Amino acid sequence: MRRKLVVGNWKMNGSRLANAELLAGLEEAGPFDADVAVCPPLVYLSEVALSLQGKRTAWGAQDCSARDSGAYTGEVSAAMLAEFGCKYVIVGHSERRALHAESDQLVADKAKAALAHHLTPIVCVGETLAEREAGQTDVVVKRQMSAVIHTLGHCISQIVVAYEPVWAIGTGKTATPEQAQAVHALLRTQLHAATPKSEEMQILYGGSVKPDNAATLFSQPDIDGGLIGGASLKAADFAAICRAAA
Ligand code: PGA
Repeated sequence: MRRKLVVGNWKMNGSRLANAELLAGLEEAGPFDADVAVCPPLVYLSEVALSLQGKRTAWGAQDCSARDSGAYTGEVSAAMLAEFGCKYVIVGHSERRALHAESDQLVADKAKAALAHHLTPIVCVGETLAEREAGQTDVVVKRQMSAVIHTLGHCISQIVVAYEPVWAIGTGKTATPEQAQAVHALLRTQLHAATPKSEEMQILYGGSVKPDNAATLFSQPDIDGGLIGGASLKAADFAAICRAAA
């Protein structure tokens, strides 16, 4: 049985005070019978890392550079994150693909850089509403996944995948459990052709996961947890989602 993983993507939200309250609330609500991680904005990472020392909750970053070091103003390398005890790094979130024009290949290179420093990349894939309506969902997610498979080779088994339909992110429109499961199964079949370990890999669903829909989504055979945006900012909601994963 694959263990469930629930990851909170705080995006550009939080403050030192709000973060401390959120983590305290989460600690109080736990422990959970699932892997749990939070991904705060970069500037808060070392403070969050300190407050999570000795706790079960892991932490990750929301992005990393594909490069190791050098003249890349504003960038942070996977090596730097690893130095602080970072476990996960989200790469290829649709907001970065759309707002920062990140290509499939750049996302794959970031995943490679993360693995080189023993971080687990959480690679996001997902179609826009226009792509879904044009019947292109399968083609788009397979294309996004395939760039990562080609770049990582057999190391592909070390990543976490997150299927996040763009039209479901922050919109309150969740994919139905059947819609999500269909894409998860497709991705697992694609991964199966690349690694004998595809059955062990965690494929998360993201896009308006809330306490009231989490359990049904997580009960699908190929959904191994969630990448949670909005609902990860409230300790009670995030805790309820973590509980639904148990
Ligand atoms: P949401 O965001 O839960 O607010 O829809 C999910 C994500 O973008 O990872």
